[in-house]
Amino acid sequence: LDNGLGRTPPMGWMSWTAFYCEIDCVKHPTGCINEQLYKDMADQLVSGGYDKVGYKSVHIDDCWSEMERDSHGILVANKTRFPSGMKALAKYMHDRGLKFGIYEDYGTKTCGGYPGSYKHEKVDAQTFAAWDVDYLKLDGCNIDQAMMPIGYPLFEKELNETGRPIMYSCSWPAYLIDHPELVNYNLIGKYCNTWRNFDDINSSWKSIISIISYYDKMQDKHIPTHGPGKWHDPDMLVIGNKGITLDMSISQFTVWCIWSAPLIMSNDLRIIGDSFKDVLKNKEAIKINQDPLGIMGRLIKNSTDIGVYVKQITPSKGDKKSFAFAYLNRNEKEGYKRIEIQLASIGLTDPAGYYVHDIWSHVDLGLLRSGDSIVVSIAPAGSVFFRADLASLHQPKGKRRYKFD
Ligand code: GLA
Ligand code: GLA
Repeated sequence: LDNGLGRTPPMGWMSWTAFYCEIDCVKHPTGCINEQLYKDMADQLVSGGYDKVGYKSVHIDDCWSEMERDSHGILVANKTRFPSGMKALAKYMHDRGLKFGIYEDYGTKTCGGYPGSYKHEKVDAQTFAAWDVDYLKLDGCNIDQAMMPIGYPLFEKELNETGRPIMYSCSWPAYLIDHPELVNYNLIGKYCNTWRNFDDINSSWKSIISIISYYDKMQDKHIPTHGPGKWHDPDMLVIGNKGITLDMSISQFTVWCIWSAPLIMSNDLRIIGDSFKDVLKNKEAIKINQDPLGIMGRLIKNSTDIGVYVKQITPSKGDKKSFAFAYLNRNEKEGYKRIEIQLASIGLTDPAGYYVHDIWSHVDLGLLRSGDSIVVSIAPAGSVFFRADLASLHQPKGKRRYKFD
């Protein structure tokens, strides 16, 4: 959607996969959907330095509202769990330099059974704007599939007419998984800044891999329809959650960065371990995710266990290209895989060579030519991730170019 928003993939924190629809704040005082949870996470984004590396938004998901609209047909935040109201919560975020995201559903009800927007599109868009919302995730439960191409553009028009810049995330294609022939990403990209198109993630390797496999299979359709202002969203980062090891975390982060996918965490930032935090805050990886070209990387080689991904990045000039590349080991059971990566074999053929940097070990490998190889050892469920700056476009670090004119 060409509204000036989301020129690089959105980065933030969202509640769903870590806290779902937990509304019992008596039994779960620090893990239920209430205003304190979002304030805590906002505080963590700032005190943990996540905001400094790009994580700028806090997103409410489902189960935030009252079960009924008020007598004027306006949505109301649950009065017990959000006693200060949404405008105050938005202010809490804005005071800390963060953005505020909310969740609704285009159907008659949200997936969790709360009031949906169907037939209330205008008033809901105006309500969100009045609450100073910066991002809307509009889900697609409880509505006929045939209505998707009507409702999502209608809501975009209503958001636009509020005059407030609100990034727009659509779940439109996620409800057409069984009808790929009905999914037109050029059309969706005209109306939405980002969109979910596959199953919900959960904190397991199986779930991460099922998403990656779906994206692998669909890449010829995804790659050309992805870029600034219009991002495929493979769903939240589950790094830091029970069931996800450090190697799995590295792998999810690597692939999401190779894709230039939204980096929206769903975890408990109050208790996350330092090593997981380091994965989420790896600046080199984030730089590849946020590369201004916004190109979704491609699976270029595949075997039973290993997927090889290559993504064009900045600096590039015409057919002179720099790249990021990654090897993912989908097998979480067997031992380490030793692999020799010859640059030419993955398409890095420029005769001047490339300056190669190992993103996870933070080691510069120096200038490598297309015939040179790197030998790596990849952990079960792990990944290796490199950037390769084309030598002829490379500006060595720490040196300045002076102009004498
Ligand atoms: C759907 C979405 C999830 C989450 C839930 C909330 O399943 O895909 O991301 O928003 O609804 O009910
Ligand atoms: C192979 C892999 C799968 C998936 C597909 C994608 O079959 O084993 O996991 O990545 O390729 O093409």
